[in-house]
Amino acid sequence: MKKITILDLKKMKYERDKISMLTAYDFRTSVMLDACDVDILLVGDSVGNVVMGFENTLSVTVDNMLYHTKAVVRGRKRALVVADMPFMSYQVSIDEARRNAGILIKEGGAEAVKIEGGENVESVVKALSDIDIPVMGHIGLTPQSIHRMGGYKVQGKEERQQEKLLADALSVERGGAFAVVLEAIPQKLAAKITEKLKIPTIGIGAGPDCDGQVLVINDLLGLSGKFRPKFVKQYVQLEPIIKKAVSEYVGEVKKKKFPQDEFTFS
Ligand code: KIV
Repeated sequence: MKKITILDLKKMKYERDKISMLTAYDFRTSVMLDACDVDILLVGDSVGNVVMGFENTLSVTVDNMLYHTKAVVRGRKRALVVADMPFMSYQVSIDEARRNAGILIKEGGAEAVKIEGGENVESVVKALSDIDIPVMGHIGLTPQSIHRMGGYKVQGKEERQQEKLLADALSVERGGAFAVVLEAIPQKLAAKITEKLKIPTIGIGAGPDCDGQVLVINDLLGLSGKFRPKFVKQYVQLEPIIKKAVSEYVGEVKKKKFPQDEFTFS
């Protein structure tokens, strides 16, 4: 089994071999997704929403990311592990960005970090790339900008916004990013950005023309409650299956049916 590196991802773009990426936050999920040959495991700061129960990603800390990154790294053999840099871990100064990214790589074992933003973070992308920390960019709907954006909205609908997003993508590439996530932008714009960039684009709600796709694992598995953006395809609905199994267990305990003999030591 060949370990995926950032060089493989660049090659995949040129060979038009699509890149698969999923989020993971824990050891067992990491083992399972890795066994399915997912190319990239993203320890997303979406952990704040889907695991920790926050309304948005803003409360997530470097310590939270470190804890989950270590678990995911322990579970994977093949996939490239990318750790999200949480809100305020790279915005205050370049020194803090270096220190925090260094923690996720050195202590966490991630092979790359992801930061949100375009032209405004080019200097951070460059500073990290210059000290050999590979950076994945993230433009379009950037959840850490929720208050500026006024909600989770599709970005780049107007021509002026589209020009800005293209400038953001080029800026992240110029800074030295090895790939960039395009979130919730129109298909045509994502196709144009993908064509203009030499680095791979990974889409989420950005249509089929990106070089790769990413989804939040809980969304794919039908484990996100009622939350379901248009771009999410639920490949299975695990929530009712889990509820049925757990209700059965609770019923058996109450009725003194569990544990049966086979689950008991004599
Ligand atoms: O945190 C996350 O899960 C992400 C993906 C949605 C790209 O940033």
